[in-house]
Amino acid sequence: MKIAVVGTGYVGLVTGTCFAETGNHVTCIDIDEKKVEKLNNKQITIYEPGLEALFERNIRQGRLEFTTSLEEGIKGAQIIFLALPTPPGEDGSADLQYVLRVAEDLGPMLEDYTVIVDKSTVPVGTAEKVTAKVKAGAKVDFEVVSNPEFLREGVAVDDFMKPDRVVIGAESEKSIKLMEKLYAPFVRQGNPIIFMDVRSAELTKYAANSFLATKITFMNEIANLCELLGADVDKVRKGIGTDTRIGNRFLFAGIGYGGSCFPKDVQALARSSNEVDYDFRILNSVMEVNENQKQRLVDPLKNYFGGDLKGKTIAVWGLAFKPYTDDIREAPALENIKTLLSLGAKVNAYDPEAMENVKGVFGDDIHFADDQYDALKDADALMIMTEWPIFRTPEFDKINSALKNKVIFDGRNLYDLQQMEELGFEYHSIGRRIVK
Ligand code: UDX
Repeated sequence: MKIAVVGTGYVGLVTGTCFAETGNHVTCIDIDEKKVEKLNNKQITIYEPGLEALFERNIRQGRLEFTTSLEEGIKGAQIIFLALPTPPGEDGSADLQYVLRVAEDLGPMLEDYTVIVDKSTVPVGTAEKVTAKVKAGAKVDFEVVSNPEFLREGVAVDDFMKPDRVVIGAESEKSIKLMEKLYAPFVRQGNPIIFMDVRSAELTKYAANSFLATKITFMNEIANLCELLGADVDKVRKGIGTDTRIGNRFLFAGIGYGGSCFPKDVQALARSSNEVDYDFRILNSVMEVNENQKQRLVDPLKNYFGGDLKGKTIAVWGLAFKPYTDDIREAPALENIKTLLSLGAKVNAYDPEAMENVKGVFGDDIHFADDQYDALKDADALMIMTEWPIFRTPEFDKINSALKNKVIFDGRNLYDLQQMEELGFEYHSIGRRIVK
């Protein structure tokens, strides 16, 4: 099949590359000339494990191309994916200007029946708006279909190649057949393609992400309660996670969720609800609790130093919002660093992938270390913000000899309490007793 993908951001690039991998001819389109030039020079523009090999192979074999011209890029395409940004506007609702502008441009360019697919996360009713925009200029038949993505950063290639399910909102036999054919190679193992009406598909994406954000937030509140009641969140997690109705995934308490999806989607769903006069109260709580949770360790840190962080140096391990990504959008680490700086502390930070991005935010205001132990030099305490595997089994004697105080504030519950006790660290984590 010939496919076009408009937008070569994170979702667009993964989508385009993975469709090429199953033998389709894919043209990716982006208005950013520099990006397209880079991609055409076989330089990948995002960090995503496993993607580069696929990207290079498919370019080499002539199945994956990049252009800045929408008209050229969509020529002959049976399916056009829209993978454009939908950033939150000032009021929290998704800003559709990029999607609708491309829809408007596409109309007169279509030469034959085409399926246009909304891949970006867009509010319920967007497909209808896109249809109206395309229709205004179209001379041929077309259909707008919704196909939300459920890609997790860091494992996006795997999620795309072996999805739990594919959700497609499509109304005609013709578009359903086409989408079925396109996705057949990805669901060979028997996972379903779930077809439904367009509005339900659009809502499915928001419902899934908001549910997961709520699940995490619920556990974070249980963790906070554990601290007050003298219980251990790890044990409670195991106790409830074995109930198959609850499930053991996405139950890890920590310093809150971040990233490009959860915060934006929860906010957008709350906003969409308001628009139809529905007060989705649980979502408001989720947002509020998560904001507080992100800085959960600041108070214990302050207390440790008698309420004053002035002149203290804090080593920060982990900057990305989660491991295996360089993405720092809504990352708890950034908010903590802002607070530390505002309280007069100095920050020595280390992250395996995200330091370049953080340089763009803090510049010279913080020190970027060469490795995790270098970050500990002259530091008064260690804070852990992201659960990168290399932080899980560190050389504790190195931490011990480098840190001025034997104290760790761990936002990701990486270490065993008994071990910390034996090693003689003061250890604060989330939802577990403090080791002193
Ligand atoms: C998410 C969804 O999982 C994906 O389906 C969607 O399409 C995009 O958003 P992503 O943002 O890449 O993916 O990250 P994910 O692995 O889902 O983690 C989201 C956040 O939740 C991270 O900040 C993570 O640290 C946090 N989290 C996750 C927890 O705090 N506890 C958990 O148990 C799981």
